[in-house]
Amino acid sequence: MHVKIDRNLATIQARVESHIDTLSTFTATPGKGTTRLTYSHEDLQARQYLKEKMKEYGLQVREDGFGNIFGKLQGTLKDAPSVLIGSHFDSVPNGGSYDGPAGVVAGLEVAALFAENRLTPKYPLEVIALVEEEGSRFGGGLMGSRGIVGLLDEEGFNGLKDKDGIYAVDAMKKMGLDPSLPKKRDPKTMKAYLELHIEQGPILEEKGIPIGVVEAIVGLTQLEVTVKGQAGHAGTTPMDRRADALVTAAKMIAQFPELAGSEGEDTVVTTGRLNVFPNGANVIPDKTVFTVDIRSGKEEHVQNVIEKVKELAVSYSRNGIEISVEQLLYIQPKEMNKDIVSLLKKTTNELDIPNCSINSGAGHDAMVFSDFTNVGMLFIPSKDGLSHCPEEWSDSRDVANAVQILFEAAKKLTEAE
Ligand code: GLV
Ligand code: MN
Ligand code: MN
Repeated sequence: MHVKIDRNLATIQARVESHIDTLSTFTATPGKGTTRLTYSHEDLQARQYLKEKMKEYGLQVREDGFGNIFGKLQGTLKDAPSVLIGSHFDSVPNGGSYDGPAGVVAGLEVAALFAENRLTPKYPLEVIALVEEEGSRFGGGLMGSRGIVGLLDEEGFNGLKDKDGIYAVDAMKKMGLDPSLPKKRDPKTMKAYLELHIEQGPILEEKGIPIGVVEAIVGLTQLEVTVKGQAGHAGTTPMDRRADALVTAAKMIAQFPELAGSEGEDTVVTTGRLNVFPNGANVIPDKTVFTVDIRSGKEEHVQNVIEKVKELAVSYSRNGIEISVEQLLYIQPKEMNKDIVSLLKKTTNELDIPNCSINSGAGHDAMVFSDFTNVGMLFIPSKDGLSHCPEEWSDSRDVANAVQILFEAAKKLTEAE
C-alpha cells in the first residue's frame, strides 16, 4: 500500500516533537509531569533552549523586565508593528507538556518556515514565550501578558511574592534576569497576536476534528479567601469551644458545586489551592487560605458568584472566625477578532483541514492581548480531554497542521496594510 506522507508536514511534526520532548525534561518533578514555575531553575533551562532555537532560526532575541522572551524577524517597513505569535512556557504543578509549550513551539516553527522559504515580511514577525500565565508561583495568572500591555505596573510587580515570601523581582535577579529592562509595550508596536493552544477539554476529540478556531474565551476571576480562627490543642479543646479555620473553610468550599449549579449555564467554581496553618496533625488550624476560581461565558454569572462567595464569608464570620476575600484576577469574557477568525477559517479550509468554531473555557494570554491588538487562536484536540495533569497529550501532527495554518495566516498578516 502506498502511503502518501507530506514531507513538509512530517518534518514540522518531527521538529515539534523534538522541541516538546526536550522542554518536558525541564521539570522539577521528573516522572510526575511538568512542574516549571516562573523564575525557577527549570524556567532557566527552558528559556535557554527557546532562546537558542530562536537564534538558530534567525530571530533577534530579547527579554523584557518580566522575563518574557521575544524573537524578532525584522520586516522591510521601518518601525512597523509586529505580528506576534506564541504562548506561555510556565506550567501548573505536575502539569503536562503541551499547555503553553505547544503554542510557543508552533510560533518557533512558523519562524522556521519563514527562514526556510527565505521570506522577508513587510511587517515584523515576533515569536513570543510568556512567563507566569498559570499564576502557579505568584498567583492570579496571565502575568507576562498583563505586564506587556501595562495591566500589571511596576508597583504591582514589585509587590508580588510567592508562597515562601520570595519577591518576583528577587527571584528574577537570582536567575540572572534583569527586572529593570523595559516592561510595558506600546500597543502600537503590535499588529496582531496569534496563539495555538491545546483545547484542554473533550470537544474536538469527540468530534474527530483536528482544528478548532476559537471564537470567544470565558470570563474568569480568582479569589483568595483567608479564614482566621484560633489555634488550640486537638485533644483538650471541646468541640463547642473551637474557632477552627479549616472546618469553616471546608463548609464554605462544600457549597461551591451547588452555587455553580444554581447559577447555571456554563458556570464553574473550583477551589484548587488550600493551605492550612500551622498544619500540625494535633493542632486546631488557626488559618486557612484557599483560592476560588470562577468562570463563565457570561460575565454576569461570574459577578453573581463573587457576591455569593462574599455573602458566605460574612455568614461564617462569627465565634472567633474572621474571613477576608481578596480578588487576585478579574477578566471579562473576550471575543476574538472577527477578521482574524475569518482568516484562520479560510486558511484552514484552503489547506483542506477539517475545522469547527469553538469557545474556550480556559484562560489564555490571548484574552489579555485582545483589548490591545487583533487576536486569533487555534485549538487542537486534547487526548481524553485531559489537561493540567501529567496525562495531558496532544498529537504533534495536529500541532504541525496548526503550524501550516499559522504560517499562511502570518504571511498574510505581515503583508497586509
Ligand atoms: C489556565 O490554564 C487557566 O485557564 O487558568
Ligand atoms: Mn494552563
Ligand atoms: Mn495555557
